[in-house]
Amino acid sequence: MSFTVTTCPLVEARAPRADLYDFTVCCPEIARIATPGQFIMVRCGELTLRRPISICDAEGDLLRFVFEVRGAGTAWLAERKVGDILDILGPQGNGFTFDDTSQPAVFVGGGIGIFPLLHACKPFGTQATVLLGFRSADLVSMLEDFQAAGADVRLATDNGTAGHHGLVTDLLRARCDEGPVSAIFACGPKPMLRATAAIAEEWEIPCQLSLEQRMACGIGACLGCAQKIRHPDGTETYAHVCSDGPVFDARVVVW
Ligand SMILES: Cc1cc2nc3c(=O)[nH]c(=O)nc-3n(C[C@H](O)[C@H](O)[C@H](O)COP(=O)(O)OP(=O)(O)OC[C@H]3O[C@@H](n4cnc5c(N)ncnc54)[C@H](O)[C@@H]3O)c2cc1C
Ligand code: FES
Repeated sequence: MSFTVTTCPLVEARAPRADLYDFTVCCPEIARIATPGQFIMVRCGELTLRRPISICDAEGDLLRFVFEVRGAGTAWLAERKVGDILDILGPQGNGFTFDDTSQPAVFVGGGIGIFPLLHACKPFGTQATVLLGFRSADLVSMLEDFQAAGADVRLATDNGTAGHHGLVTDLLRARCDEGPVSAIFACGPKPMLRATAAIAEEWEIPCQLSLEQRMACGIGACLGCAQKIRHPDGTETYAHVCSDGPVFDARVVVW
């Protein structure tokens, strides 16, 4: 495990929605080595524990992350302005692994789980189908970013106010029916990940899931993020989502 703790300036801060913040920091130490699916741990003022946020994109010296305000830490972060210095640890965790980016792949994201999928889908260009699920139209974000990456982007909302009326996993079934899929990559709420894993198993498509677990240390030192996993011999042990994951092969996750 190799990560850096560094301070870096906030160079762009946008608020696409009232409670959603899209930040870019100039952070060459992390941006240059970050791989898709990894995350950063951000110090939030005087709070003891850093907060985990996915790397949404990394290009050159620039590192982008997008977050919703949920509690004290993200509320503090949302108040930062361009020019402020952030204290960041990263890149942390094991991200997605890609066998062949020239083959069609499907990315399934739900809610705040959509953010790491931008960095992840980029290497696939027009071979990526990105399926995004939200509760309602007012929560939809980042469509244009995924389209600019070349992906075929499809949308679902729980209440039918935008795109398909239903679950994002309905779109996954439909996409699997349409033609070959070499791999599925997903990030989002646990029920969505579980349904994605079941569809991948049914269609015999390799599938990687990015799990979200409450975290404390974020570096594998506290057992705060334990996830039960199954080994090939059938035994079950606990892995650290922060340092063994957050991305796991769907077949090893014990739900
Ligand atoms: C690997 C990973 C990547 C994430 N990426 C993003 C992202 O890209 N965008 C985004 O909006 N959110 C993301 N989250 C969720 C984000 O970490 C939480 O919303 C945030 O920690 C809440 O902190 P808070 O102080 O605002 O809330 P509080 O509820 O006050 O936090 C209290 C404590 O609980 C922990 N905690 C609370 N909720 C979560 C959670 N869902 N996951 C992990 N720890 C939590 C905090 O780290 C803190 O230690 C990610 C979580 C993980 C584990
Ligand atoms: S959060 Fe401490 S071990 Fe993962």
